[in-house]
Amino acid sequence: MTRPSILFIDDDAVMLQSLRTSLYRFRNHWDLRYTSNARDALRLIQENPVDVVVSDYRMHGINGIELLRSVRTTHPEAMRILFSGDISDHVRATALQVAHRTLAKPCDIEQVINTIREVLDHRRNARDQTIITVVGSAERLPALPALYLRLQETLQDPNVGISQIEALISKDPSIATQIMRMASSPLFCSRYPIHSLREAIVRLGTQAIASVVLSSSLASATQHNADTAFIEKLTAHSILTAGVARQLVPIQALGAEAFLAGLLHDAGLYVLADLRPKEISEVARLTTASGCTWSEAERSVLGVTHGEVGSYLLDIWELPASSAEAAAFHHDPGQAFNHGPGVLAAVHLADLAAYESGKGVSLSAEAASNMAATPDWFRESWERAKTLTAEAVRMADATERKPNARGNSNG
Ligand SMILES: [Fe+2]
Ligand SMILES: [Fe+2]
Repeated sequence: MTRPSILFIDDDAVMLQSLRTSLYRFRNHWDLRYTSNARDALRLIQENPVDVVVSDYRMHGINGIELLRSVRTTHPEAMRILFSGDISDHVRATALQVAHRTLAKPCDIEQVINTIREVLDHRRNARDQTIITVVGSAERLPALPALYLRLQETLQDPNVGISQIEALISKDPSIATQIMRMASSPLFCSRYPIHSLREAIVRLGTQAIASVVLSSSLASATQHNADTAFIEKLTAHSILTAGVARQLVPIQALGAEAFLAGLLHDAGLYVLADLRPKEISEVARLTTASGCTWSEAERSVLGVTHGEVGSYLLDIWELPASSAEAAAFHHDPGQAFNHGPGVLAAVHLADLAAYESGKGVSLSAEAASNMAATPDWFRESWERAKTLTAEAVRMADATERKPNARGNSNG
């Protein structure tokens, strides 16, 4: 799902070229970067943090140990590997303090590959462990909703009718209301009011119904300690993002996946808002006060981002990989393995458009600043995302202003 980034630093051009040639076969799995200069390395890491740094020890200017020490201070989450070569015991001891692994030089390329794999696995486990520490324990994470499981079971039956689905959904009035609202929303091209749950189910379709059950249950399960207004805003934002993402995906068959991914892209924020409400208030304050992004503030206050927590939860729930991927990378799709036109890109753009229309939650103002450097299809989709979002917000506001309006009050 993800494509880890690995930066190699060696001032020996022959060695660097040899690594480049040997690792070419991994180009689709790893984001491989190379530089011959420690100062360049620090600048590159500052601009684009990496997962693994592999440095030679003996280099002109800053040596490998000094470089890894700086990386440890500025980007402690990066795994550090040192090519130690022929160094004294004293230097070796110092190397062990700053590097997670050391490698003899020259060494077999397979050994380099295995060491990188090892540290990446370790990092993944360490990340999961941090999430568990932040949320308290895995048991405190919301369970997959029982109604969703029953609905999935029911939908397995080829003879199931609308009446059975209606009977199931109507047992939970808040979810039934949410479904009615969504079916009346301009996001579903509704020109006619919805008069019954049955009509809403037909209009949305069973896959979208299951997605709404999931997201509504998540919102209900995370309202113990969270600020109610924040959860309401987050829900309105998620619905808007989902509705626009569904229309943005280039292939219609991906619409249902994009809708689900859009509804749940901020799943981690629901969890953190409920389990760590004080820290989330601090994140909001920091984002406004310092101008850093929401995720940067989360990293500094909590040690994890809502993207990481969300993708962890959706992985546990065994939802489609596209949902976990969108949760993980919706603020930075370039970090994902698959960031071409698809579900992730659609959710990212819809999320951004919602933010720019005043219906956002977890971004900062500079979020769209790199848009000019992106491919044509991305920029075109961005224009469409803004148009769809503006239209949805305008129609929803108009519906809300009508007396006795039944429409979507969540945007
Ligand atoms: Fe987010
Ligand atoms: Fe979002």
